[in-house]
Amino acid sequence: MKNRILAPSMLSADFGHLADDTKMIDRSAAQWIHIDVMDGVFVPNISFGFPVLKAIKAASDKFCDVHLMIVDPEKYVERFAKAGAHLVTFHIEATKDIQGTIDLIRQSGAKVGVSIKPGTPAEVLDEWLDKIDLVLVMSVEPGFGGQSFMPGSVDKVKYLRQAIDSRGLDVTIEIDGGVSAANAGMLYEAGCDALVAGSAVFGAPDPEAEILKILNA
Ligand code: DX5
Ligand code: ZN
Repeated sequence: MKNRILAPSMLSADFGHLADDTKMIDRSAAQWIHIDVMDGVFVPNISFGFPVLKAIKAASDKFCDVHLMIVDPEKYVERFAKAGAHLVTFHIEATKDIQGTIDLIRQSGAKVGVSIKPGTPAEVLDEWLDKIDLVLVMSVEPGFGGQSFMPGSVDKVKYLRQAIDSRGLDVTIEIDGGVSAANAGMLYEAGCDALVAGSAVFGAPDPEAEILKILNA
């Protein structure tokens, strides 16, 4: 079986007990920690920025997976890399300068991710696959946790798996939105390397056990 990665989304954490929730993820079998940054412009919601990332970083040694849902990400990607993001993912719909944004992330020493919204066809990624480390397929409209999984995203994963493998590329496929133990097995089988899960993890009575359940689904 291929290596299965899980990235719990801190958007669903209890911000009154942020350090405790972060340490719980750090103790768990999840390999990554997913950080959702929203600007109220690219998406109709505002989440958090650098001070919260700093607090999470202070309590976590996990691979730090930052998902930027902001316009003009090129203005901020270097700061996120400096703040400790191991991977900086931006939306292809959010910038006029895709190559420039990729270059800025690379120069900062972080890995490069590019994400597509549900309405964006996977084919737009074809020309970028040999320049990036990860593709993030959104399986809900970005902006909020707790939404229902959009099944159409599975065909995008299959398309990307085939495109990446047939070209012999080393690009991780991540999916984000509506993921739970109920669909995780199907998603790993379809070709996902990494799953993001927010409400399914933090809404579970025993989040650490739920993480294992998703990884072994
Ligand atoms: C949504 C975010 C997701 C969100 C997922 O815009 O990008 O990472 O936290 O939440 P769930 O897993 O609850 O759908
Ligand atoms: Zn996300």
